[in-house]
Amino acid sequence: NHYVLILAGGAGTRLWPKSKCGLPKQFLDILNVGKTLIQITYERYISFIPKENIYIITHKDFEQIVQEQVPGLAPENILIEPSGKNTASSVLYGAMKLYGRNPSANLIISPADQLILEQKTFEEEITRGLDFTDQIKALVTVGVKPTYPNTNYGYIQHAHVDAVPGIYKVKTFTEKPNLEIAQAFLDSGDFLWNSGIFIWRAKNILDNFEKHLPEVYEVFDAEKDKLNTPEERNAINRIYPFCIVMSIDNFILEKLQNVYVIPSTFGWTDIGTWSSVYETLEKDYLGNAVVGDKTIIIDATQCMISTDNNKLVVLQGVDDLIIIDTKDSLLICKKNKENELKDYVAEVKRNY
Ligand code: GDD
Ligand code: MG
Repeated sequence: NHYVLILAGGAGTRLWPKSKCGLPKQFLDILNVGKTLIQITYERYISFIPKENIYIITHKDFEQIVQEQVPGLAPENILIEPSGKNTASSVLYGAMKLYGRNPSANLIISPADQLILEQKTFEEEITRGLDFTDQIKALVTVGVKPTYPNTNYGYIQHAHVDAVPGIYKVKTFTEKPNLEIAQAFLDSGDFLWNSGIFIWRAKNILDNFEKHLPEVYEVFDAEKDKLNTPEERNAINRIYPFCIVMSIDNFILEKLQNVYVIPSTFGWTDIGTWSSVYETLEKDYLGNAVVGDKTIIIDATQCMISTDNNKLVVLQGVDDLIIIDTKDSLLICKKNKENELKDYVAEVKRNY
């Protein structure tokens, strides 16, 4: 009864210009390892969840890309959304479909833009969460020990004593706080970053949506007999215009009680910004990281350079830059400022 629902419909705007609306980061080999992020994510689960229980939910524009990049996945395991409503509706859709297949379905909800370093530990800790939600009507989140006040993450405050070994009751959940609050959270030592991985039973997800977001729940509920039939796609096309734009994180934060957290130790990196990519790469003694060949660095520190075109790049007298060169676009920005890219990209992406 264990399932995975991989969320893979985001736009990944902070990794522009490689990640674009036509081909966002989850479908790119951002790290230059010969695999895309969705492939890395799928492989992470295949070793401990039966293949037929792994589902990917994405936007209709990416259906073919998912089929190509994850050929092991049966076409019926790809859930297609006609429009992007952020992740709350994706989770509701997945839960309703899987509940229809198996009323005791217990789900891992997983983002598609992360790296996990220690697979065995990951499997153990996630399995601990699944065992817990098999028995108890609760939501388990997976937390990561924070190392700096990142304002792109959710923060989870938990009780000091564990409820069962390795699983703690959550006191508060704050999505993307400002820098001052993030710093206070970090200083207090009581908080973890939200990894975005959630474990809960399909039935429990449905009950919570019915209770806290009834207007959307009812639209799905009215069509539930069509899910898992040839009518599914049409039903979803009718449902989605009624969905509100909301992330699953905000849904949990605003609405839920009985939330727990597993403080993970499996080594987690979110591939959300160029700085986070930089962190994962090997660097030279001056802290420069290069993706691709032919770059020559003469006098630079802490820079990251990525070129698609195998072009010669020379850096002289610059520090802390992110330089991303693609066929049609060139990004040069200060490291740790790419957060602000989101705003510009909205403007730029009409043309690129
Ligand atoms: N199917 C589908 N539909 N997937 C989506 C949609 C959608 O409309 N929007 C986003 N996704 C997918 C993304 O592709 C990604 O895999 C995942 O959902 C999370 O979305 P992000 O947009 O990457 O969220 P975030 O990084 O800003 O924040 C989340 O992750 C952080 C950790 O990386 C939150 O969970 C934070 O609380 C968390 O700290
Ligand atoms: Mg993300």
